[in-house]
Amino acid sequence: MTAQGVQDVQALISAADIQARVQALAGEIRRDHPHGVHLVCVLKGAFVFLSDLSRALANGVTLDFIAVSSYGQGSTSSGQVQLLKDLDSPIEGRDVVIVEDIVDTGLTLAYLIQNLKSRGPASIEVMAMFRKPEALRSPVEVKYVGFDLPNEFVVGYGLDYAGRYRNLRDVGTLSPHVYS
Ligand code: IMP
Repeated sequence: MTAQGVQDVQALISAADIQARVQALAGEIRRDHPHGVHLVCVLKGAFVFLSDLSRALANGVTLDFIAVSSYGQGSTSSGQVQLLKDLDSPIEGRDVVIVEDIVDTGLTLAYLIQNLKSRGPASIEVMAMFRKPEALRSPVEVKYVGFDLPNEFVVGYGLDYAGRYRNLRDVGTLSPHVYS
């Protein structure tokens, strides 16, 4: 963790635990998709997870990136999802796994699944590194989950607050002085 991160963030999940979980999730993907898979990374937050996950998988993995925005600059959802950057390649006939950083209300994923399904993939599944309690009330099915978290705003491992802390290796909560 950076010097700034040590002051601002109370760690919830250590870098070592995250790395161990990534290996286990990669094992699940290899088991379910022995012939390879097309990973769709949801920018920006999932870029760190995608980087670790893709390198933990064997050959046969292809990648693409999509960017959406639902939180703006703050720490609560705006309730509206905007497509900021589309995929570069068609997904028709491909086995797609959406790689997401964290699921909270499930609104972002609901939008993405509906959008990507309309392009005719052979299959579409979701992997999220983190999940908050609210997500369990969403109809969106998240097949692979790294960790269930308490209902708190967290940063690190790709997750930001106003653009900061994405580079921290641990995941943790922000000290109150950061918000004030
Ligand atoms: P949802 O649409 O409410 O499920 O929110 C999902 C998106 O909101 C994630 O992809 C993140 O970009 C962002 N998000 C949700 N909770 C957090 C958090 O605790 N920290 C940072 N970003 C979050």
